[in-house]
Amino acid sequence: MSDTSVNNPAVAVDGLHLSFGGPEPVLSDVSLHVAEGEFVSLVGPSGCGKTTLLNLCAGLVPHTGKGTIRVVGEAPSEGNAKVAYMLARDSLLPWRTALENAAFGLEVRGVSASERLARAKAMLAEVGLAAYENNLPKALSHGMRQRTALARTFAMDASLLLMDEPFGALDAQTKLQLEDLLLRLCDQHRQTVLFVTHDLAEAVALSDRVVVMSSRPGQIVADVPIDLPRPRSIRELQKDPHFHELYTQLWTHLESGWVRHEG
Ligand SMILES: Nc1ncnc2c1ncn2[C@@H]1O[C@H](COP(=O)(O)OP(=O)(O)OP(=O)(O)O)[C@@H](O)[C@H]1O
Ligand SMILES: [Mg+2]
Repeated sequence: MSDTSVNNPAVAVDGLHLSFGGPEPVLSDVSLHVAEGEFVSLVGPSGCGKTTLLNLCAGLVPHTGKGTIRVVGEAPSEGNAKVAYMLARDSLLPWRTALENAAFGLEVRGVSASERLARAKAMLAEVGLAAYENNLPKALSHGMRQRTALARTFAMDASLLLMDEPFGALDAQTKLQLEDLLLRLCDQHRQTVLFVTHDLAEAVALSDRVVVMSSRPGQIVADVPIDLPRPRSIRELQKDPHFHELYTQLWTHLESGWVRHEG
């Protein structure tokens, strides 16, 4: 991480408040900076505003309250080519092949057919689906569909990837495989990632930092650096006592966020 990346963070949220008009705000005084090339996870109880924060960064929810938000040096705007968004459900188009789906993000951004297909093909190979590029989503397993969605996300070559529980709906084993794949893709492509998960082990395994939010109104209650060396392997991390210490530390922060709001 260079000095310039610290001075010009990929995400700069300062003193953000957001209300949808209910009795309580959704986000209250949230400040979060993500440096260029950093992988930051957001964890917190259901309804604390994690998706809302990603939607604000993607320009899908307008920012009308107090505070400021800058994404890759600009005010958030929908369709910003520097930002890619991946969701829990694969959101693949059912009538398109894996290759056409992997190329879809580039197509929306107006990249020529030959270039987008070449980039999508290379990314499908990187996620282990070279042999399946002509399959429709219905002929892919759930894990393969999320691999295709990863290929589409990384093919866009965006500066910032927003990921909202991308592996949340997968079975435990497939999830571990895709986490390993995401570690490799991030080592290879070095994009900035803001990642939402409910799985603390996943947050520790993937991240440089984990930010813990409290229940509504969402506030940041802890910011935990994950000082595990890279490259990482999910299998090896399971044997590392420090991995388990960090996991326990996050649980404690998460619980303190609940207690604070229940008391
Ligand atoms: N468009 C909207 N209009 C009104 N309220 C909304 C809107 N979007 C989200 N909310 C409310 O904001 C709060 C935060 O929702 P959000 O989806 O960001 O939570 P979350 O942390 O992502 O939860 P989960 O972990 O369950 O996905 C919730 O109380 C939700 O009802
Ligand atoms: Mg959510």
